[in-house]
Amino acid sequence: MDTIVVDHPLARARLSNMRDARNDNATFRAALRELTLMLVYEATRGAPLAEDPIHTPVSRTVGYRLASPPVLVPVLRAGLGMAEAALNLIPEAQMGFVGMARDEETHQPVPYMESLPDSLVGRPVFVLDPMLATGGSMLHTVELLTRRGADDVTVICALSAPEGVQRLRESGLPLRMVTASIDERLNDSAFIVPGLGDAGDRQFGSV
Ligand code: PRP
Repeated sequence: MDTIVVDHPLARARLSNMRDARNDNATFRAALRELTLMLVYEATRGAPLAEDPIHTPVSRTVGYRLASPPVLVPVLRAGLGMAEAALNLIPEAQMGFVGMARDEETHQPVPYMESLPDSLVGRPVFVLDPMLATGGSMLHTVELLTRRGADDVTVICALSAPEGVQRLRESGLPLRMVTASIDERLNDSAFIVPGLGDAGDRQFGSV
């Protein structure tokens, strides 16, 4: 699995704002939005372009657009905080939604919502979730996508744990990953260390 770690100084600074426990929900959300722009920017670096003839005020030239805009799939709740930033950067993208909550005791993903295009054949898909911990939620999400024919899936996570990255790698699914950091490890509660806590709670409050 191709894994891109975006360690640009601005990405590191925004991720630090997200990690810092003193920061309130609004500061966390703003940092996540800005970091998402950088992650999506990197995720589209090699995207194929289509050419169109255009006229500048001065002469004719060639204009470019994404040949195949991705389907953006935020994983609720926490992925909601990445959705608008990603769509601002790729306004022509379509959007699908998956709802997934991790059981706090078993750490298993519990799906509760799925709203996706019927067919994802031949379409790039960007899955948006701030955190990859055990990888269970992401694997389940990618399986939903591949059942609809997706074979070009990019997982975009602000933060990830080596355990989750390894699990995605071993899945054999058609994946690549873009993240701002692969942290040290998971603790006994399957939280990322040093991590940033719970990205859903840090944005929206605990439920
Ligand atoms: C978090 C996070 C991922 C998942 C990661 O969501 O946003 O979806 O946990 O854990 P995993 O890799 O071990 O599956 P959470 O279940 O806290 O739900 P929320 O988005 O509603 O806060």
